[in-house]
Amino acid sequence: MRRKLAAGNWKMNGTRADWDQVQPIVDIAVDDPEIVMCIPAVLITEFSVRSRGAISIGGQDCHANDAGAHTGDLSAHQLQDAGATYVVLGHSERRADHGETDALIASKARAAYRVDLKAIICIGESEAERDAGTTLDVIGAQLDASVPDEARGNTTVIAYEPIWAIGTGKVPTLEQIAEVHDFIRSRMTERFGEATANTMRLLYGGSVKPSNAADIFAVSNVDGALVGGASLKSEDFAPIVQALESA
Ligand code: PGA
Repeated sequence: MRRKLAAGNWKMNGTRADWDQVQPIVDIAVDDPEIVMCIPAVLITEFSVRSRGAISIGGQDCHANDAGAHTGDLSAHQLQDAGATYVVLGHSERRADHGETDALIASKARAAYRVDLKAIICIGESEAERDAGTTLDVIGAQLDASVPDEARGNTTVIAYEPIWAIGTGKVPTLEQIAEVHDFIRSRMTERFGEATANTMRLLYGGSVKPSNAADIFAVSNVDGALVGGASLKSEDFAPIVQALESA
């Protein structure tokens, strides 16, 4: 019912020469899972031309406004014009490095929708919040405030990324992932109704590797992954894509 999604997040890594790491992914691309590489904005034009639609290309942030005096920022329209069809919003690194709030992230998602960019909205608890037993409260509040009312299944992907699992090699238990993903699905169902919630894809992110991907993809309500470090090298990302294909 939901097309699975393998999303790579290159963060501030990669140059044009790293097309070498994308070509092998293009070569194994099939209809399901969909693959999206969220790459530095300066690479979007070239990589979207070279991938010829076999994979999708995404940005990693956009401004909430459509245009204007915002030196150094990029609009959703500029990403879309360069060849992107997705944009990652509210990644925990942007929340931490740039003070992004849930309300700002919702505004950015609306900006993305205005130009038909799909938003991958990231949420996730800190280690202290997990230890304090407040994970579901934190996730619920982030969902309520960072996912706009306009969100639909074909415009919005939710990525659950526990902050303490990003780039650390630490991964929640499969039960913990299932608990949060089931919670997200039911929260979306309460708010948007079943028809919308059942088409919205939910990704897990945080230290996904070839060795743990198949187990994670077998968890209820996990429709794919947002992969950071292991998306940089095709020898790591290809087996993750293939594990999702067989899930
Ligand atoms: P990681 O990053 O896979 O390197 O843990 C995931 C992310 O930040 O999206």
